[in-house]
Amino acid sequence: MRSISAIALALGLVCAAPTLQARDWATIKQTGTLIAATEGAYPPFNYFQGGKLTGYEVDVMEAIAKKLNLKLDWRTLGFDAQVAAIAQDRFDVAIASHGITEERQKSVDFTLPHYCSGGQIVAKPGGPLKAAELQGKTLGVQLATTYADAARKVSGAKEVKTYPKDTDAQQALLGGRIDAWVTDRFVAQTAVQKSGNKLKSGELLFVERVAMILRKGNPELLGQLNQTLKDLNSDGTLKRISEKYFKEDVTCLN
Ligand code: ARG
Repeated sequence: MRSISAIALALGLVCAAPTLQARDWATIKQTGTLIAATEGAYPPFNYFQGGKLTGYEVDVMEAIAKKLNLKLDWRTLGFDAQVAAIAQDRFDVAIASHGITEERQKSVDFTLPHYCSGGQIVAKPGGPLKAAELQGKTLGVQLATTYADAARKVSGAKEVKTYPKDTDAQQALLGGRIDAWVTDRFVAQTAVQKSGNKLKSGELLFVERVAMILRKGNPELLGQLNQTLKDLNSDGTLKRISEKYFKEDVTCLN
């Protein structure tokens, strides 16, 4: 008997795993809450200010939830864990500056872009600011980002060091442990402004469109998010949030 129930228990556990499903739009609406993930360490897009999650992406997600008449339940987790976590249904959507790439499209669906930007070189005054000046240099980037991919393609660079957080790469640059940091151009702009002449931004290495990610095969949720983005674009909300953080329009839905 004992062994049969043990087997049943084991089977139950085995069966339980595949029944975990992405929460579809009907379920989300019924619960009244959208579970959204971000990183919380990527200013000015998503970061903590005195214990409060804030940033362009946090405001965008909050505007989306409001339009959809949903409460927001925020989860924060490391950027490099987010694509995999989507498949485990730990949240409905993530907004954490994911560039739309073919590689990521194999595992997740992307919404329409909530901003467009690119990867830029940042260095200390006198440091390398152009791709051609990166020969023999040590670059620092956040793990699992499009900046890491771009840095690895720089010809002649000595080494690419990866850090769990983008702010760690920034600190490594300020501390002289790397020669250049590759990051988002608006992250760079904010960091340079705050640095008091300790940092300079250089050449743009590539451009990218940035969007929210969700589990593959959740077409109704994807449709709702895209329609809401379009509505927030046409009523001027997206532009207003953008100007609050960047003093310019970083959106690209038009
Ligand atoms: N845009 C870059 C990418 O797609 C970096 C995003 C980093 N996001 C973050 N929350 N740290 O990989």
